[in-house]
Amino acid sequence: MDLIHLDIDAVHVYAEAIEHIGNEEIRHNLADFQNDHRDHVAHIGRKLIEYDEMPPEFSPNFKGFIMEGMTALLSIRGEEGLLSGIETVENMSRGKYGDAAELDLPPDLVYLIRSNLTDEERHLEYILELLKVYRDTA
Ligand SMILES: [Fe+2]
Repeated sequence: MDLIHLDIDAVHVYAEAIEHIGNEEIRHNLADFQNDHRDHVAHIGRKLIEYDEMPPEFSPNFKGFIMEGMTALLSIRGEEGLLSGIETVENMSRGKYGDAAELDLPPDLVYLIRSNLTDEERHLEYILELLKVYRDTA
């Protein structure tokens, strides 16, 4: 449930960034990552139902503070601010998926969690590289 909440947050945080980032290639990559998070929401949602749990509504949840912070980050630090908002949610995602991958769970859940963790590692690596470029050229 924690994982799906974070993935929902990530979809919203990415939407905010995609709306404001000027470079088309970066926007395209961010949209791919946003789709990965949408897939995570769908796949975890299906698993929750299989395990008799109700998936959450697709809306900002209690961790929406990252989203609220995005507007402030944009006004103070521009595109780099939005990317650091993404960095925050990606760090949290990688941490939570990493922790979940260590749990003693049924094989279908382990497979899903490991697959999503691979996505999170790829996203974070790209965002960190991109932030480095932004900071080096600031
Ligand atoms: Fe991600």
